[in-house]
This record gives sequence, structure tokens and C-alpha cells, in this order.
Amino acid sequence: MDSQGIRQEIKSRIDIVDIISDYVGLNKSGTSFKGLCPFHAEKTPSFVVSPEKQVFYCFGCGMGGDVITFVMKEDGISYNEAIRKLAERAGVKLTPLNAQNVQEREVLLQIHKSAAAFFRGHLRKSEKALGYLQRRGIAKESIERFSIGAAPEGWDGLLRHLHKEGFHDRHLRLCGVVVYKENSQFDFHRDRIVFPIHNASGDIVAFGGRAIEKDFEPKYLNSPETPIFQKKRVLFGLNAAKEAMKTAKHAIIVEGYIDVVMCHQYGFANVVAPLGTALTEDHVRLLQRFTKEVIVVFDGDEAGIRAAKRAMPVILKEGLVVKALLLPHNSDPDSFLCSRGAGEFKGLLSAASSYVEFMLRNGGYGVDNLREIYDTLAVAQDTVLRAQLVEELSNKASISESVLRRKLKERSKPTRLTRAVVRSGQMLDEEVLLGAYLSAQDSVEMFKPLMGLLELIENELIRRIFSELFSGSITPTIEGLSEICTEDEIAYIAGLIVNPNVEKEHIEKNVGDCIKNLRKKWLKRKLDEIQDKINKASALNNLEELAALVEESKRYNKEKRGLF
Ligand code: UTP
Ligand code: MN
Repeated sequence: MDSQGIRQEIKSRIDIVDIISDYVGLNKSGTSFKGLCPFHAEKTPSFVVSPEKQVFYCFGCGMGGDVITFVMKEDGISYNEAIRKLAERAGVKLTPLNAQNVQEREVLLQIHKSAAAFFRGHLRKSEKALGYLQRRGIAKESIERFSIGAAPEGWDGLLRHLHKEGFHDRHLRLCGVVVYKENSQFDFHRDRIVFPIHNASGDIVAFGGRAIEKDFEPKYLNSPETPIFQKKRVLFGLNAAKEAMKTAKHAIIVEGYIDVVMCHQYGFANVVAPLGTALTEDHVRLLQRFTKEVIVVFDGDEAGIRAAKRAMPVILKEGLVVKALLLPHNSDPDSFLCSRGAGEFKGLLSAASSYVEFMLRNGGYGVDNLREIYDTLAVAQDTVLRAQLVEELSNKASISESVLRRKLKERSKPTRLTRAVVRSGQMLDEEVLLGAYLSAQDSVEMFKPLMGLLELIENELIRRIFSELFSGSITPTIEGLSEICTEDEIAYIAGLIVNPNVEKEHIEKNVGDCIKNLRKKWLKRKLDEIQDKINKASALNNLEELAALVEESKRYNKEKRGLF
């Protein structure tokens, strides 16, 4: 059994209420149980356990998760220790890594190797795929360096190849490259450019596929998690970037596959990207083996700033120096390099901002922002680095170091108080939707209208989760989400699940209303955007564009009238 399987097996045999009752006095309250939170001091209970959903959540401090998270936090033990402890209680046998597992891993690696060769072979023959790469400016050398390939349009080209090579369904089933349904089997990636994903030892463990046709959804599709592939532990490009990271003495993190490929092509070989997930501690630990400094590069829009604010603390916390670079609006490293060239990119990199500088520039000198900065500095592991940043903050914000130090001391313990706490009773539409989806079990039909329309969702985390859920690469369970989310994110999601936000009898109407609200808000944003463009076009007297924009705005206005 793999680690997800074991987690599921354990959870199917024990009840979260039983376990937590050993630690906390619980009282029944509606369909849930309530008690005093063991993770922070409180006098009125805000700690909720849901037997139905098998999760816990504290509305006071934001701690939450499943029974395994609970035991880890409460006993202060590691994931493996918690699994062992609960397995014993549940009577689940854990198989140690034995010869059979090792052999199985070997076969899975072989399958990936063979699949990669198949994709490369197809790319050579495919005018369509080669044409696409050429249009994107990806050079032959880059195709070679990253072993880029292409998946054919049919349903089972890869499957037939792998059968011919002598691989058994028993292994292919575990491997994610072929989808096994009750009555049919087909290739996971079809009609896509395929990027092999390597682990740190250089083995191919998964594939990322990019749509070739415009508007083919989803744009990127990663292999599902398998015994040899966990997204939060893999960085795209690491294998190709290791040496350069050592020489350059820093690593660069970008967002996308093509960004990595193009950075390498333009001479920046120390570049990696996570696989469409937020940066995790595991990612940082991987990098730490090769370098002590990381520069994160994001688009300079709101979302980019938010993403940088989220990524930087993860890096600092592990004791690495972190800097951030925001690119001009609407550009990513790929588009920037293609239009402005390597020289300018290098210039921007060398002027990347330190954490303190970045936070002050993009958050100001208000109390909330300063507090966020203290909180992060308080958990930074490297004391020398922390001292430097404290000095920098003290200089730039004109606060004396002794005051800062005192504040840091006060804050260095209960860091979990800073995590987002779900406000009961006033959730955003997209939060309600995610909570409902994760509780709905098999009645997910009603979410169909959302599938092609993920841009309606403003919250980046929620959009990412829906995208993964809809593409089927994770299951709608805490285990599935753990593959792509940090612990804090899981706690936040547990809060969405326990929060009674839709009534069971009216779930369909509630979900429909939420989607409609999102659509309204999206239309509003869209119309504002168009209005901006109209203003610009009329200032420039660009009549042709003006006419087109007015037409567009009419279309959206009509839709808006239909909704309101
Ligand atoms: P972006 O949507 O920013 O695209 O996704 P991009 O990298 O600029 O891609 P191009 O230039 O249009 O080809 C950034 C990264 O987020 C993940 C992928 O890892 C992608 O490289 N992603 C994006 C997904 O996993 N799924 C998606 O549907 C979209
Ligand atoms: Mn791009």
C-alpha cells in the first residue's frame, strides 16, 4: 500500500471523535462536537470536530486537519510516527519497504523512461507539435536538454507502445500515464506537448503536458500523484539546474514550465519551478542541498505580489536568503526574455529586493504589515540572517532595534495565530463552493458550470484546488489535498469543510447562487477592465479599437442584464 492508501485505510477504521476525545472533552452540538481548543488558550469552545467529515477545525486559532494532523500536532510527533501510532490502534499492518516495493519502484521508473522515449519519437514526427514549439521560440537544444516530447491525438498510442514493450497493466495502473476506467483504458496525456519531470536523482517520475490547441482545457495537466511522484516534493528543472545553482550561488524560482525552459535557453541555468503548486518546505529543502540563496520571480500584478508574500516566508523559515523580483505587468520570464532579452533580465535580477524591502514597498508601514514582517522574522531559523533582517527593518521603518527585538520575542511562539482563520458565517462565495464540493461526495454534477470557468474564482488557492480536482489529478479528500497544499492551507480548508455553509436540502440552489454571484463579480471586473481600455483608446483617438471595445462591452452588459 502507498502512503495515501495507508492514510485512507487508517482513517476508514478509526473515528476522529474517538481519538480526539482522549485529549479534549467534547460535547455534541448539532451534527458536530465542540470543545476547548487544545492548541490555544480559550474559555469558550471554538474547537469543532465533524464525525461526518472526519476533520477538526478551531475557529479561534485556525488549526485544523484530519485525525493524523491532530495526533502529529498534539503529540508533537512526525507524520510517520503518527501513522505508526494510529495504525497500531486501528489494527492496520504496515509493510516495511521490502524487496517487492523496491522492485516495483524500479518498474515504474522504467515505464516512465519508455514513455518519455515514445513522446520524443512522436514529437519528431509531429509537424503540429514541432510548429508549436517553434512558434514559442523553443530551440532544438532546449528540446534536447529537457527531453521535451509530444503526446499523440489518439486515445491509446502510448498504452499500445507500453504493452508492446512488455509492461503489465498491473504496473501501468500504478503509474499514472494510463487512465484505467471500469470498461476502458486510455492515455493520460493526449494531444499535448509533454515535459518529463525528473526527481533530484535524475529519474523521470511524471509528465507535465501543455495543450497545443488554444482554449483546450486545462492548459497544463500534470500526471497524478503516484508512489514515485509527489508534487510538493518535486521541482521542474532541478536536475538540469543543480550544477548552475552551485556555481551561481543562488537559485531562481519561476512559475511555469516554459519559463524554466526559456531561462535556461537564455543562459540562466539555475532556474526551477514548482508544478503549479505553492512553494512547500520540501521544495526549499531540496534547494538547500545546492544553494543558500533563492530569488523568486513573479508577475508584478496583485496575484504575483500575493504569491511572493506567500513564498518568501517559506524560504526564510528554512534559513535561506530570499529575494523577490516582480516583472512588469502581464509578463512572465518567458515573455520578458523574448521581448527584452537576457541583459535586461539580468539587470532586474541583480536588483531583486530583500524580504524586508519587498514587504515595505508592497505593504507600507502600517501596523498590520509590520506585524506580518515581525511574524515571519520570528520564525526564521538562521539567527545571523534574522539579525540582519531585523537591522534592515529597524533602519528602514525607523523603529529601534530593541523595540523590534522585544516584539519578536513576544511573537516567536504562537505563530499559528497568524494563519487565516475562517470567519464563521461570512464566507466568500468561492469558499462556500469549495466547502460544498468537498462535502458533496458524489453529487458533483452541479459544479459542472464552473469547470470551464475557473477564472471566475479570484482566490488563487481555491482556483488551483478546483483545477486539480476537475482534472482528476487529486481526490476530493484531505489526503488528496495534502498532495498539493501546505499544512496551513489544509487547516484553512478543514475550516471550510466544517463550517455549515450550505443546507443539505438546498445544496443545489446554494451552489447555483454562488456560481451566479461569481459570474456577476467577474462581469463587473471585466467591464471595468474594458472601460479602462476604452478610456485609453479614446485618449489616443484609436477609433477602430474603440469600436471593437464598445461592441465587447455591449456583449458583456447584455449578459449582465440577464443575471441581475
Ligand atoms: P500559467 O497559466 O501562468 O502559464 O501557469 P505559463 O507558464 O505562462 O504558460 P504558457 O506560457 O501559457 O505556456 C503557470 C504554471 O502553472 C501550472 C503549470 O505548472 C504552469 O507552468 N498550471 C497552469 C497548471 O498546472 N495547470 C493549468 O491549467 C495552468
Ligand atoms: Mn507564459
